[in-house]
Amino acid sequence: MKAVQVLRARELVIKDVEKPDIKNPTDVLIKVKRVGICGSDMHIYHGTNPLATLPRVIGHEVAGEVVAVGEAVTSVRAGDHVVIEPIRYCGQCYACRKGRPNVCRNLSVFGVHEDGGLREWVVLPEQQVHAVDPDLPWDEIVMAEPYTIGAQAVWRGQVEKEDKVLIQGAGPIGLCVLKMAKLIGADVMITDLSDERLAFAQENGADLIVNAGREDVQQAVAEWTDGEGANVVIDAVCLPQTFELAVEAASPAGTVVVLGFDERPASIPQLPITKKEVTIVGSRLQTNQFSKVIRWLNERKLAHNGLVTHRFPFDQVREAFAFVENHPDKVRKALIIFD
Ligand SMILES: NC(=O)c1ccc[n+]([C@@H]2O[C@H](COP(=O)([O-])OP(=O)(O)OC[C@H]3O[C@@H](n4cnc5c(N)ncnc54)[C@H](O)[C@@H]3O)[C@@H](O)[C@H]2O)c1
Ligand SMILES: [Zn+2]
Ligand SMILES: [Zn+2]
Repeated sequence: MKAVQVLRARELVIKDVEKPDIKNPTDVLIKVKRVGICGSDMHIYHGTNPLATLPRVIGHEVAGEVVAVGEAVTSVRAGDHVVIEPIRYCGQCYACRKGRPNVCRNLSVFGVHEDGGLREWVVLPEQQVHAVDPDLPWDEIVMAEPYTIGAQAVWRGQVEKEDKVLIQGAGPIGLCVLKMAKLIGADVMITDLSDERLAFAQENGADLIVNAGREDVQQAVAEWTDGEGANVVIDAVCLPQTFELAVEAASPAGTVVVLGFDERPASIPQLPITKKEVTIVGSRLQTNQFSKVIRWLNERKLAHNGLVTHRFPFDQVREAFAFVENHPDKVRKALIIFD
């Protein structure tokens, strides 16, 4: 079978590799149908993801059809349409015992620490495989994993109905956060530098859009919240200055959700944190968010609605990566299609 491997930085190859087979009783064999290209795949491709070792078969946003299952598998069967939960964890460490396996000390992410889904077939343990309504189009269900990133961020922020939520950044992640916050019933202001991205966010439910390149975000938040500040600020830009702004813009008793991997320090004074008793939390990947996202997909409450902008057949995967790299203004989510 064929697999897409990042051999070394900026070198993507389609390789012939051995087709995987069921080895353990809990294994599930899946024919891959769709894989989404994510910012973190681009980082691995550029050789700038410190967590990924090369060579690596990338791809962690994966939808496919179950072809065979091991004898102990009970939750899925051949013919099911499924999405893949990309985290594998030890179950023993402190984070796992705390119910936070997404930050397991021995965490292994499919397509990052271990070979991922950009190949014709994959085998994974049952617990990483979730069935969805087979009537849903593949292009819809392959978005499950990015939606879980958004679901985790609103869960970490404890977003509730009618909360005033500021999302910084209307890229794919900011848009996934937006969809989740709106499903919960929050009132959402979103910022970006691109009017086109902001217009799309508005079509997808944003109550207020603000161009951070032209407007004073802090002042816009003050006007929008009658001087109180945003109850939850979710930073999907992830720069030192957006983290700084997040703490300033948070309301008393508010929460700031950090999603970034930037290693540069931000300059944040203690006073606003103490005075407002702001909670600052990290949000990484997801814990237990697949069931909720799948329920919303199955209930037709979640649809990509134009978030998927590009589709490339598997044999044009290099063209796909080049396109995503060169047209960040045009691409929201690009998919690789297997037949
Ligand atoms: N924690 C996690 O689990 C997780 C998962 C996926 C991605 N991420 C991170 O989320 C971030 C966003 O990912 P993405 O794929 O949407 O990225 P992206 O680059 O496509 O989107 C970022 C958006 O922010 C906008 N922007 C830039 N500067 C801004 C500013 N000062 N104010 C407002 N908007 C501004 C850009 O115009 C762009 O639309 C990345 O840093 C990524 O590493 C985290
Ligand atoms: Zn992703
Ligand atoms: Zn663990």
